Amino acid sequence: MVKDRTLILKIYVYLVFTVGVAVSFYVLTTYRDISLLGVVLFSILIFAADNLSAPLPKAGSVSVNFGISLASLIIFGPSTAIIVTFVSIFNIREFVKRVPYYKHLFNAGQYLISMGVASLVFKIIYNQNVSNFFDTKNIAYILAAAYIFFFLNTLLTAGAISINEGINFANVWIFNFAWLIPFHLFLAAMAIAISFLYKQYGEFTLLFTSLPLMIAQYTYLLRVKERQALLNSILQIVKIMEAKDKYTAGHSVRVAEYSEKVARQMKLNEYDIELLANLANLHDLGKIQVDLSVLNKPGSFNKADWEEVKKHPLVGYNIVKEITFLKSEASAILHHHERMDGKGYPDGIKGDEISLYSKILMVADSYDAMTTDRPYRLALTKQEAIDELNRNSGTQFDPKVCSIMVELLEGEQAV
Ligand SMILES: [Fe+2]
Repeated sequence: MVKDRTLILKIYVYLVFTVGVAVSFYVLTTYRDISLLGVVLFSILIFAADNLSAPLPKAGSVSVNFGISLASLIIFGPSTAIIVTFVSIFNIREFVKRVPYYKHLFNAGQYLISMGVASLVFKIIYNQNVSNFFDTKNIAYILAAAYIFFFLNTLLTAGAISINEGINFANVWIFNFAWLIPFHLFLAAMAIAISFLYKQYGEFTLLFTSLPLMIAQYTYLLRVKERQALLNSILQIVKIMEAKDKYTAGHSVRVAEYSEKVARQMKLNEYDIELLANLANLHDLGKIQVDLSVLNKPGSFNKADWEEVKKHPLVGYNIVKEITFLKSEASAILHHHERMDGKGYPDGIKGDEISLYSKILMVADSYDAMTTDRPYRLALTKQEAIDELNRNSGTQFDPKVCSIMVELLEGEQAV
């Protein structure tokens, strides 16, 4: 299965690269309007912008370089734009990271196809209406070129990620790219401003017009890095917490892996899967306030011990609800010990009062707890744990989530 995917990916990459080269060749031989000054100036800008680009959740990156290539298309025409786009492929960070050669081939191919097709369409429609720069039709044609580029670029990239990771194509596109639709409107507006001022007042205007693009790029990069740093430090706390107790080491990471698999099988979109995986990693964060002597106590818990342990969902919820990008579903942590029959804690809610995220966490958490050694009992075998899941389906676990988890586990067994 994985071998098949690798072969399909290779065929896909070579196909995209070949089509990209063919489209560029056609553009360069049809429109011999290369401006040396344009190539040099816009290549410098694109090179700077591209190396400030921010990574996307699953793959790829967000860069304002399209705004710059589009401006070069409006000012100088298709051939200059194709060469400027070609320069954007040389991203220093990727070369330093020694990104495999086929990624470079793919990037080159998809950028050249996207810019080549956008340029050709733009040249055909725009040439007929050159009288007034701010003519409504002209603006509409620039936007058309911008969105032809956007859709080709993102659909081709989503195709590669989908083949590579075996994830549903629509999920990849929605998660990684759909939110960039308005961002491209901003890039198109910037390209219009850059090209208007360049045509009107000359090349020195680039110094001022490209600045907002660079600032936008840098701000976004900082935001992504900040979010990742916050998440990493919280995960570090969870690791330290789990390391204190040999029985729960790695528990949260495994719960996150199970939750992600179940969510993917349930066809949740990639936004929700990512959110759930983050919540799963933090689901027992509240144990930092639970007395360690209780957590590590051999033998069974008395009433007071249970009261102590039952604090952790609320403590965890109170921390996670303060994290901007997790707060919308932080209640999943509050309710990860609620049962379908209402006999769970802390609120004793039941059935569909419990969110889907909590239901998934409950099943993933319970399965991992059953299959690891605890102070008071040894781990169950995989089959014993599956039987236990089935026995408690409907009372403790949501039947749908439970049957998907069992299906996944049995599938693993068959491999
Ligand atoms: Fe818990």
